[in-house]
Amino acid sequence: MNAWQFRKLKGHKKILMLTAYDYGFADALAEAGVDALLVGDSLGNVVQGNDTTLPVTLDEMIYHAKIVKRGAPNVFVVADMPFLSYQVSHEEAIRNCGRVLKESGADAVKVEGGEQIADLVYKLTQVGIPIMGHIGVTPQSSKMHGFTKRGKDTGDIDYLRRSAKALEEAGAFSLVLENITEVVAKQITESVAIPTIGIGAGPHCDGQVLVLYDFIGLTRERPPFAKNYLDLRAEIKDAVNKFRQDIMSNNIL
Ligand code: KIV
Repeated sequence: MNAWQFRKLKGHKKILMLTAYDYGFADALAEAGVDALLVGDSLGNVVQGNDTTLPVTLDEMIYHAKIVKRGAPNVFVVADMPFLSYQVSHEEAIRNCGRVLKESGADAVKVEGGEQIADLVYKLTQVGIPIMGHIGVTPQSSKMHGFTKRGKDTGDIDYLRRSAKALEEAGAFSLVLENITEVVAKQITESVAIPTIGIGAGPHCDGQVLVLYDFIGLTRERPPFAKNYLDLRAEIKDAVNKFRQDIMSNNIL
């Protein structure tokens, strides 16, 4: 699938997307039939154990995107552009986004930000780089805005709506809506022709994405919107206990 085909999923099916960071999970998720994978810079939190996504480097993103694509060669893979890899100048952004596509084999990249980055998104799409936008809570600017739900007051609602439209007009093929009120996510979804992918934004988006480690129950504190689909942490404890008992009783092959 390419970005244009992904765009055309809007109205045809609800899109199921999960994050992935390595070969093994990408392979398993591909076999399970996900529509798309996001190599999120959330790897800074869940894989690297940082408090924020800010320390993630471009080389790390390329490395993870490459091994995800190797595990899921037939799945549409979007790679996050990390903090400061696209904000400094348009020239640097084109070079860095280009590097991610060239070196990792990812099918598209994602950048965080609203109407203020529409010019940049236009430039990137003009050179053939497929861009997924990301508005609402944007973890790369958490030091400015924190993680509180967006779309609650008129000013913010107007900003989010304008941003969605500006990014669509600039050529983005899809938009992540993170932690936005359900009603605003619905309005945005109805107002743009590109698929919206929600996370903590209610059921009315064109698709949904979850951070893999929340989805499988590996993170210690799941966000309230991430349902418990699997309690892997408990399963791991159980498996370790079984292994310990086998060791103690010499029940080893
Ligand atoms: O980095 C990430 O995993 C993301 C998702 C939360 C959308 O951007």
